Formats: sequence, C-alpha cells, structure tokens
Amino acid sequence: MDLDGDARPALLGREAERGALDELLDDARDGRGNAVVVHGEPGIGKTALLDYMVASAPDFQVLRTVGNEAERELPFAALQQLCATGLADLSQLPEPQRDALSVTFGLVTGAPPDRLLVSLAVLSLLSQLSHDHPLLCVVDDTQWIDR
Ligand SMILES: Nc1ncnc2c1ncn2[C@@H]1O[C@H](COP(=O)(O)OP(=O)(O)OP(=O)(O)O)[C@@H](O)[C@H]1O
Ligand SMILES: [Mg+2]
Repeated sequence: MDLDGDARPALLGREAERGALDELLDDARDGRGNAVVVHGEPGIGKTALLDYMVASAPDFQVLRTVGNEAERELPFAALQQLCATGLADLSQLPEPQRDALSVTFGLVTGAPPDRLLVSLAVLSLLSQLSHDHPLLCVVDDTQWIDR
C-alpha cells in the first residue's frame, strides 16, 4: 500500500542504478556537473529512475521536460518546457542571446535565430539558474523530441 499518497509505488531494487544516480547528484553538489543517459526497453523503469533522482534532489533546482509524440515536429517545444521556469530571468542574458531565445520561445516576433546563438543562450540561462542551487535537468522520452 502507498502510505505517502504518491501516485507511483516505491522503487524496488535497482541498487546499482540508484547508486550511480546518487553519485551524480553528489558530484553536482560538489560542483562537478555531468550527464547520464538512461536507456532500456519500454516499461523497464526509466521514468521511475528519473523520478527517483528528482526525489533525491530536494536541494536542486529541477528543470524537467518530456518528449511528446504529438509535438515531435515542433521545433524547440521540449526545450521551451525545460526552460519555462527560467524564462523570467531572460533579462540577465546578453542581448543577442536574449533576443534569440525570445524569438525561439515565441515571446517576440522576429527572424528565426541562429541555432548556435540559441544554444549559447540556453547554456547561459542554465549557468545563471545554477548560481544559487545545483541544477538538475531531466529530459524524458527523448525519442519524441525534435532534433
Ligand atoms: N524498480 C521498480 N520498482 C517498482 N516499480 C517499478 C520499478 N521500475 C518501474 N516500475 C513501475 O513500472 C511501471 C513502468 O515504469 P516506467 O514508466 O518508469 O517505465 P519506462 O521505462 O519509463 O517506460 P516507457 O519506455 O514507456 O517510458 C511504472 O508503473 C513504474 O512505477
Ligand atoms: Mg518512461
């Protein structure tokens, strides 16, 4: 029985995977950022592991996005979802980067920005968001995210 009221049951087993994710979080707490890819058969428990990681990171700012089949052709849809909570801070970015992200996310109209500029802007935004807390970016169902 689920006594915590969570929709998902507690994670069983997966000690090695949990250990690896715990280690990544500890490294990030010490200022050593890294990335991990969780892959496996459908239904094997990838999202459950991501949920475990998020639950283990109460001291992190968590940005999360999930690919959506209906939006797979929409450029930057998942990126917009990932960055949504940070968009209030766009004003801190260098002007060309701020303009690029503002157009990308449909906040202003303009010519489609250079992809390098968009990438730089996202990097700046993530660095900015990680000033006060370590930052955890969780991207699920990448098979449905635009290139
Ligand atoms: N280690 C585990 N202990 C208990 N329940 C688990 C475990 N792993 C997965 N589950 C349960 O199995 C179901 C499927 O898991 P999950 O949704 O995480 O799989 P997935 O790999 O993300 O699937 P998909 O490929 O469809 O996205 C969920 O109900 C989840 O709570
Ligand atoms: Mg899943």
